[in-house]
Amino acid sequence: MITVNDTECLVKSAGTDYSFKVTGSGHLEHLYYGESSERTHRDFPWRDAFPGNCISYDDKFPELFLENFPLEMSSRGKGDIREPFIEVVHADGSRTSDFVFSRTELSSEKPEYETLPGSYREEGQQEDGPWHLTVFLEDRSYPLTLELHYYTYDDCGTICRSSRLINRGSDNVRVLRLLSTQLDLPGNEYVFTSFHGGWAREMERHGTCVNCGKFSVSSAAGASSNRTNPFVMLSRPETTESSGDCWGFNLIYSGNHYEALEVNSFGNSRFVSGINPDSFEFLLGPGESLEAPEAVMTFSGEGFSGVSRNMHRFVREHIVRGKWKKKERPVLLNSWEAFYFDFDEEKLLGLAAAGKAAGAELFVMDDGWFDGRIDDRRALGDWTPDSRKLPGGLEEICRRVKALGLDFGIWIEPESVNRESRLYREHPEWSIEIPGKPHSEGRNQRLLDFANPEAAEYMTRRMEELLSSAEISYVKYDVNRILSDIYSQYLPPERQGETAHRYILGVYRMLRYLTGRFPEVLFEGCAAGGGRFDLGMLCYFPQIWASDNTDPVCRKEIQRGYSAGYPMSAVTAHVSASPNHQTGRETTLAERYEAASEGILGYELDLSSLPPEEFEEIRLQIAEYKKIRKKIVCPEE
Ligand code: DGJ
Repeated sequence: MITVNDTECLVKSAGTDYSFKVTGSGHLEHLYYGESSERTHRDFPWRDAFPGNCISYDDKFPELFLENFPLEMSSRGKGDIREPFIEVVHADGSRTSDFVFSRTELSSEKPEYETLPGSYREEGQQEDGPWHLTVFLEDRSYPLTLELHYYTYDDCGTICRSSRLINRGSDNVRVLRLLSTQLDLPGNEYVFTSFHGGWAREMERHGTCVNCGKFSVSSAAGASSNRTNPFVMLSRPETTESSGDCWGFNLIYSGNHYEALEVNSFGNSRFVSGINPDSFEFLLGPGESLEAPEAVMTFSGEGFSGVSRNMHRFVREHIVRGKWKKKERPVLLNSWEAFYFDFDEEKLLGLAAAGKAAGAELFVMDDGWFDGRIDDRRALGDWTPDSRKLPGGLEEICRRVKALGLDFGIWIEPESVNRESRLYREHPEWSIEIPGKPHSEGRNQRLLDFANPEAAEYMTRRMEELLSSAEISYVKYDVNRILSDIYSQYLPPERQGETAHRYILGVYRMLRYLTGRFPEVLFEGCAAGGGRFDLGMLCYFPQIWASDNTDPVCRKEIQRGYSAGYPMSAVTAHVSASPNHQTGRETTLAERYEAASEGILGYELDLSSLPPEEFEEIRLQIAEYKKIRKKIVCPEE
């Protein structure tokens, strides 16, 4: 619930308070974020500090030194030299902004963002009193309005924030950064927990104590990426898994992200997060607005696991939506590690029949099913079934799999294109590349320019046709490279800094349409494993393939990393062959099941060629899992 009075805006969520007030100068002074009971006891030490050669705000407020003042949002130019929340180049070339309070608005509604996915509340999940606060700020010298939005989710102690910048003038402005959240904290020595890795080694946890300077994590991959996840935590050196202060943050965004903790020269800390400002630039014309992704914040006095519990519940209740939100997910059998590209209809059906006998409920035909796709060098973009592998097309394989008593699912990668494809030959201008310049490939493929509405619309229609062409129950939505040579042939030169952001907005538009058009279908996200494991994707996909690494020893560590910020209902995990295809390690079936059954269970090996005793063990595993799986999607029930 949120209250606003003359002195303070108070955002309350499950025993936590978040508060700020308007100063005489019109700035928003951040007061507190933590446990409700402690709110009056803590004080911010910084206002007594000797200002030295700090900049004094103005003649009316000579004692206001923004460099060491706790702020809800900050900008460049008026003395605050820390990480800004917003940075704009005005028409006159100046980069100074000064946003001051205009008014507030309270409501119990959350309109959808125009461009981005966001958290939501179902009917019946209302709170007593308003839970959406908008603070309107105006730049003192330029015609810009900044909206700060706050939403509370009391059932999981979570507060969301987002911002929107509106150009009310008659000139273009260049937005160099518009972040999503800022939290000024008293003192330093906060431990910044972040999650790093790469392909097949996602979510390795690191804790860095920041007592001076700046520590930041970010992605420049064009995706939230497996290099570093947008979920991070701040805690105290004494915080443990079950005790002590801990703040958790995430971003509902799948593109380049940025999270930073800076300690200023007075020993006070500032956390910010949002779209990575590096290489970002957005031209905002008269009357236009720019939305920043929603940031998620939670506080717990019960250590890291307190934050994890809040985040899990938040994701299950306010991010994942649709038919599959709380529904038990089918145990699937995937063809990838069984056959890779080397299959035909009969081989697939043999595998599916073995899957059925073992108790699987869904058969997934992975990569390799479309025209000419004999390896990873060709055919992406041409989404018609390969008649040599599937003589009766999708309809026939789907019909035959269903006749065995299994649902049928397919793998797709709509964002990508191989140069060796009809699509690329016909529309080279739809690919992200700099025309006439050498291009750096990733997995022998390029990305389609989803910043170009025509290209995005074409692929959306192709996918719609494809998913309508057979009784498809499940879609594995993959993307196997990151952005390079970032250039949209659709955008003019002065808008190239928008490409990566517009790309992800175009992807969201397609996902919104497809998941709305096929509400029954279970969509599973994937990006070469966990390359886009984030809250933006989870708004469309209830589950994500967490890693291509199916070695149970590695997988358990990777899953431990995810579990810090994401519920296991979002994590899909498969039992695969031994020795493991990624690491070569030999493990027992029991070990593989133990790791995979922590999340949404699947199998990804040639079940049709297993010794009878192993097959029987798998049959028992699946039967066992079906008894416990409800707990994974609905742990509270
Ligand atoms: C990467 C995925 O993570 C794998 O599971 C598989 O679908 C391949 N792509 C197919 O190309």
